[in-house]
Amino acid sequence: MTTRVLEARQAAHGYRVRVGDGALAALADLVAGHDQVALVSCRTVLGTPFGQRAEGAVRRASRSVLLHLLPDGERGKTLAHLEGAAGHLLRAGATRRSLVVALGGGAVTDAAGFLAAVFMRGVEWVAVPTTLLAMVDAALGGKTGVNLPLAKNAIGAFHPPVAVLADPASLRTLPQRETRSGFGELVKYAALRPALLPRVAAAARAGRADATLIAECARIKLEIVASDPQERGERKLLNLGHTFGHGVEAAGAFRRYAHGEAVAIGLAFAFRLARAMGRVDARSVAAVESALAGS
Ligand SMILES: NC(=O)c1ccc[n+]([C@@H]2O[C@H](COP(=O)([O-])OP(=O)(O)OC[C@H]3O[C@@H](n4cnc5c(N)ncnc54)[C@H](O)[C@@H]3O)[C@@H](O)[C@H]2O)c1
Ligand SMILES: [Zn+2]
Repeated sequence: MTTRVLEARQAAHGYRVRVGDGALAALADLVAGHDQVALVSCRTVLGTPFGQRAEGAVRRASRSVLLHLLPDGERGKTLAHLEGAAGHLLRAGATRRSLVVALGGGAVTDAAGFLAAVFMRGVEWVAVPTTLLAMVDAALGGKTGVNLPLAKNAIGAFHPPVAVLADPASLRTLPQRETRSGFGELVKYAALRPALLPRVAAAARAGRADATLIAECARIKLEIVASDPQERGERKLLNLGHTFGHGVEAAGAFRRYAHGEAVAIGLAFAFRLARAMGRVDARSVAAVESALAGS
């Protein structure tokens, strides 16, 4: 398998995004350069073959590894768990030079990235995304945060990682529904760059995305983020399908639809509305809907 390497730039900060089977070797190299490593994950991910390989790579590369497990998914993205994690790091002797390794889906990369943003006013972190959605979206762009009972992602910080290391082999254990949810975001990128639509549609039908396609979608997000690091203008393009999507999520009480499923429905709404307003032609609507049908 090939490994694609992208250069991400956010204002003065640059970092590499690697997608492919070289991800864990790159993780070992990064870890070896730090006195201490805090590996933050959740039980589900750590228990997968990839999670075990990742933990092994970190432990072989560093003499001092602290493992911190968050509750799975959104349940781990809270201020209470942030406090718990920060206390664990302090007791284990973590310093400003420690490295946080976030191993998991978007919930873990958001929460562990935010921990890195605020622990001792900021330590370095590396994202090792293990869901399709995290590889093409959540782990990129430096937005980190936790939820409040009142609202998702209400507390957060812009704190880009020092690297994003994604190995598509980790996706083999991803539940089918999470894969489908990730494809909602892939179709979003293809709607922004229509040349990608046939490949995303074919991958959606096959139920798997390879390193090349993941890297191409990641590149689109990185380009948009680079042109608008603080989300003032162009970054809003990344919200394509999300206005309707949020309505769909809310209508399902945030339980019935996974985020990417709601985005997929939102994209269909957005394109039909754009058609009714004369902003896109019927072929574009058909192309997006055909890609969505496969996902
Ligand atoms: N920071 C950003 O820019 C940004 C962008 C988009 C989404 N997000 C956030 O990302 C989160 C959603 O991320 P997600 O869709 O990755 O969901 P998730 O992190 O909740 O993961 C979904 C489920 O898959 C499991 N899982 C993860 N990797 C696995 C693997 N390889 N094998 C088996 N199971 C695995 C997880 O344990 C979890 O149960 C939300 O909290 C959202 O707010 C952030
Ligand atoms: Zn989204």
